[in-house]
Amino acid sequence: MKVSGRPTRTIWPSADGTAVEIIDQTRLPHAFAIVRLATLDEAARAIRAMLVRGAPLIGATAAWGLWLAMRADPSDAALARAHAALLATRPTAVNLRWALDRCRARLGVLPPAGRPAAARELAVTICDEDVVLNQGIATAGLPLIRAIAVRKAHGARINILTHCNAGWLATVDIGTATAPIYAAHHAGLPVHVWVDETRPRNQGASLTAWELLNEGVPHTVIADNAGGHLMQRGEVDLVMVGTDRVTATGDVCNKIGTYLKALAARDNAVPFYVAAPSPSIDWTLRDGLKEIPIEERSEQEMSQLSGRLANGTVATISLLPEGSAAANPAFDVTPARLVTGLITERGVCAATAAGLGKLFPEHVAV
Ligand code: MRU
Repeated sequence: MKVSGRPTRTIWPSADGTAVEIIDQTRLPHAFAIVRLATLDEAARAIRAMLVRGAPLIGATAAWGLWLAMRADPSDAALARAHAALLATRPTAVNLRWALDRCRARLGVLPPAGRPAAARELAVTICDEDVVLNQGIATAGLPLIRAIAVRKAHGARINILTHCNAGWLATVDIGTATAPIYAAHHAGLPVHVWVDETRPRNQGASLTAWELLNEGVPHTVIADNAGGHLMQRGEVDLVMVGTDRVTATGDVCNKIGTYLKALAARDNAVPFYVAAPSPSIDWTLRDGLKEIPIEERSEQEMSQLSGRLANGTVATISLLPEGSAAANPAFDVTPARLVTGLITERGVCAATAAGLGKLFPEHVAV
């Protein structure tokens, strides 16, 4: 995607070959700051403190984190320690475990001396593969948007509602939920995106809006509570969201508030699609509500808000009366029955074990 007109990824190896560089997403949209990660601890902190976030990018950063760990100490003990430290950073997105297990399986069978180079190669591969997966989602999802364009009056705006940031910033490039949207925009379809602000961290208002702006996609930021009203008025043609973990039966875990959008979509017969690259599918789980760990984040994210003041400085303000408690569950689970379809890199399928099984037969238990 473009930043000030320049194609940019969200993570890349530093030019001197000793570190990895990321965009500090906690500073967007008010500052575009690049941060250098040179150690395992710095990579783990970047994930925990959400300098990088979004399921695919968390996985990619973890792969680079293992490379940083192997550069410092390629022993078996250090590999196990680094795997555990990175896995503990955030609990919900399964891409983290997927990337770490894949790296450990590859590195564990090598002699320690060969691990740093192999870890680097694998981190590069995981990043490049992420881009290809998202291109697959773009190809699979574009016909859904085209079908709406055909149905609507010629040239009428196609309104797509999205929640959180499942865009370029949540991945290495392109995004998942945004991939079909960017493809439609580049194909000349008149897409317009309703961007849920996504309290409490405002990934929609701060990140999705910023990246759509950079890419020139028409969009409007709305309060999280506005989606149902817009659907009732016929102003949403499609809901398209990302996911942190999909069960083998099609339950979808995503940013808190996604479930409410799915309920409103069902009540108003608005199609509700989830962009789900295969590393976000947890083939070991069958019941999302019971089995997916939901991250509980700090009360401060609820009680405080950051923004830019009129004088240009960025400040944090308090929202709540002192003494009020706040709770901050960061994700929720949308039951498969509310999901119209899953958009994967292999095509669109029903959010069911059978639907997923058709596209990914290698994961079906025999
Ligand atoms: O807490 P975050 O910002 O990491 O949550 C991100 C989301 O919920 C995204 O929608 C999800 O990771 C899909 S990203 C392609």
